[in-house]
Amino acid sequence: MKLVFATNNINKLKEVNEIAKNSGVEFILPPDGFNPEENGQTFEENSYIKAYEAAKLSGQTALADDSGLCVDSLNGAPGLYSARYAPTQQQRIERLLKELSGKDNRNAKFVCCMTLVTPDGETLFQTTGICNGHITDKPDGVNGFGYDPVFIPDNYNITIARMDDSTKNSISHRGNALRQVLEFLSTTNL
Ligand code: IMP
Repeated sequence: MKLVFATNNINKLKEVNEIAKNSGVEFILPPDGFNPEENGQTFEENSYIKAYEAAKLSGQTALADDSGLCVDSLNGAPGLYSARYAPTQQQRIERLLKELSGKDNRNAKFVCCMTLVTPDGETLFQTTGICNGHITDKPDGVNGFGYDPVFIPDNYNITIARMDDSTKNSISHRGNALRQVLEFLSTTNL
């Protein structure tokens, strides 16, 4: 089954297809013109907004995620604004490390909310995946994307950017959320 995944981020699309590779579900990009206004106040609201926009555009049920990094000692920042914390990803990491300098508590979590929405706006399924860990003092590794070079998951001693894809996907917020979506899809006729 092909299912629209509401993103323009090719890295995310690759990641979800890798996680779903033995499930019988293949994710595809939404049609051209997908440009939702992410003006929700929560990961749940934003993932709904994206999924509904993609479902309307494609005329088919669509899945969206909304994700971000929440840092305890920054009161959950950058959170919803993870993608907009600074103009470039390198600057976003620099800002994060600067805000955390001198702070002992570097605990953080990646959060990913996924929502499956029909073209008429009905939510069929919604779930949230979490990956707990902490922020390093400096970036390390080249794999993955976003804040992966500065995030070490609990029970590991390397950043996600040093992990291979299958290790990341087995513990990531997105992997945890998507496995729940795939389980739902395996019991439902879309
Ligand atoms: P979204 O596309 O609105 O969900 O934006 C999420 C932002 O959070 C991304 O641009 C990244 O900065 C960050 N982020 C989300 N998931 C990950 C991940 O798996 N690794 C690193 N950064 C992530």
